[in-house]
Amino acid sequence: MRVRRLVFGNIVVVCLLCVCMPLHAEVTGECSNCHTMHNSQGGQPMAYHLVNGQPVASSTPNPMLLVCDCIGCHTSDGTNTIVNGVPIVYNMVSPNKPLAGGNFYYVINNGNNRGHNVFGISGPDPNLGNTPPGGTSMSSQLRCAGKYGCHGDRTIVNQFLAMKGAHHTHDVVLDGSTVGKSYRFLKGVLGKEEPHWEHDATSSVHNEYQGATDFSTSTSISSLCAQCHGNFHSSTGVGDNSPWFRHPTDIILPNKGEYQHYNDDTLDYSLIAPVARLDPNSVADPSKVVPGQDVVMCLSCHRAHGSPYYKMLRWDYTNYDLDKALSGCSVCHTNKQ
Ligand code: HEC
Ligand code: HEC
Ligand code: HEC
Ligand code: HEC
Ligand code: HEC
Repeated sequence: MRVRRLVFGNIVVVCLLCVCMPLHAEVTGECSNCHTMHNSQGGQPMAYHLVNGQPVASSTPNPMLLVCDCIGCHTSDGTNTIVNGVPIVYNMVSPNKPLAGGNFYYVINNGNNRGHNVFGISGPDPNLGNTPPGGTSMSSQLRCAGKYGCHGDRTIVNQFLAMKGAHHTHDVVLDGSTVGKSYRFLKGVLGKEEPHWEHDATSSVHNEYQGATDFSTSTSISSLCAQCHGNFHSSTGVGDNSPWFRHPTDIILPNKGEYQHYNDDTLDYSLIAPVARLDPNSVADPSKVVPGQDVVMCLSCHRAHGSPYYKMLRWDYTNYDLDKALSGCSVCHTNKQ
């Protein structure tokens, strides 16, 4: 275990070098890799946080004695997206293999509409401000966690308190009872976690997302999005049947018509337009999709953090070339090529 000092311009920051790769989402390693007792070493501050995507050393200590804020630890100045066991969600240079949630790099480099504008990484979205489309305005810019974020306990404003204990939870069983025992520290959400955050995902090795058959189930991944984007996930906003008003999520992929031919009739799980499952823990064959059983979700079309494409989509929907543009939609809408 060692700690390296990195220089970004004139700014000296501390970077974790040797956090061990955990088997489950539970941190291991020396306390001092991640915590600083007095925020002082040889009279110099140890703590840093991110300001507009750049690390800044700080004589003000971080909460919970941490060496950095959330995004500070989950950022890298290189291209790799897992660095010594830390899943990287913001690479300062183009990420080599973005993880399942995508990457905030694209918000900075491809445009504000490429992802969520999270405090520390970027300023507020110049067009949307702090108002989630389909929902009501928030009184603060998006954070990683807490009331104004996605991770942790969303009833608590302070994002460290909202996450308290999560990183030190041995979360073999995800039952949603605590933040640590929820899918990716999203309190109450269920699912099955691919241990490397889909760094090397294939059609048979990937996350399994919780889906539902109605809009009121609160354990589904789409219901998490709905906590802010309400109208996009409610029978009043979406409808209950064809003709739909907005694209349905948390409905079963029908076992008829074009949908029974999912992914070119192969029924192979598509990493471009994936589905959720009603029971992520008892999927008979992860490499296959079962129409009549599996579920359309927000993440069938979107990334959660950011993507190279307009509106955080998983594929290029705007600059087309019709065939290619429809490639994501036509994974399910197999008659629309
Ligand atoms: C000192 C470094 C550090 C800080 C600060 C930190 N994390 Fe992490 N985080 C890690 C490491 C290491 C892992 C990988 C081990 C694990 O999964 O717990 C991780 C994992 C995660 C995961 C993935 C969990 C999973 O189930 O795979 C999430 C989500 C996360 N952190 C969110 C946050 C949020 C939100 C904050 C701020 C409150 C935060 N982190 C602060 C080091 C840090
Ligand atoms: C890889 C990074 C990492 C390492 C190593 C680490 N921690 Fe933490 N710890 C965190 C993060 C991130 C938080 C804050 C968010 C949370 O609680 O999930 C935290 C929170 C805490 C908390 C407050 C929350 C709680 O669980 O009560 C305590 C106490 C704590 N750590 C003690 C320790 C001790 C003692 C060690 C060494 C045995 C240690 N930590 C090693 C990352 C780490
Ligand atoms: C804590 C509230 C919150 C949650 C939860 C949330 N969002 Fe958002 N979302 C926002 C806000 C605020 C904006 C507008 C500001 C921005 O783009 O950062 C936004 C914007 C968006 C945009 C448009 C991006 C742009 O810049 O044009 C998409 C797409 C989106 N969210 C999808 C999702 C999906 C999918 C989920 C679930 C995985 C989700 N959101 C969960 C608050 C939230
Ligand atoms: C994961 C599968 C999936 C993906 C990907 C998908 N759809 Fe759908 N779509 C469905 C399902 C299922 C329905 C509802 C079918 C029904 O009526 O039961 C639907 C409904 C629709 C409808 C409404 C039809 C009606 O009868 O009212 C339109 C339009 C549509 N989708 C367009 C698109 C477009 C455009 C894309 C790409 C941006 C897309 N879909 C991607 C599965 C998907
Ligand atoms: C079938 C694919 C598909 C699904 C499923 C889907 N979206 Fe979208 N979403 C899109 C597309 C495509 C756009 C781009 C704008 C458009 O064509 O309407 C978009 C745009 C958005 C926007 C930006 C709206 C704005 O005003 O800028 C938000 C927010 C959003 N989606 C959130 C969600 C949430 C939350 C869910 C789940 C409840 C969801 N989406 C499910 C395809 C989808």
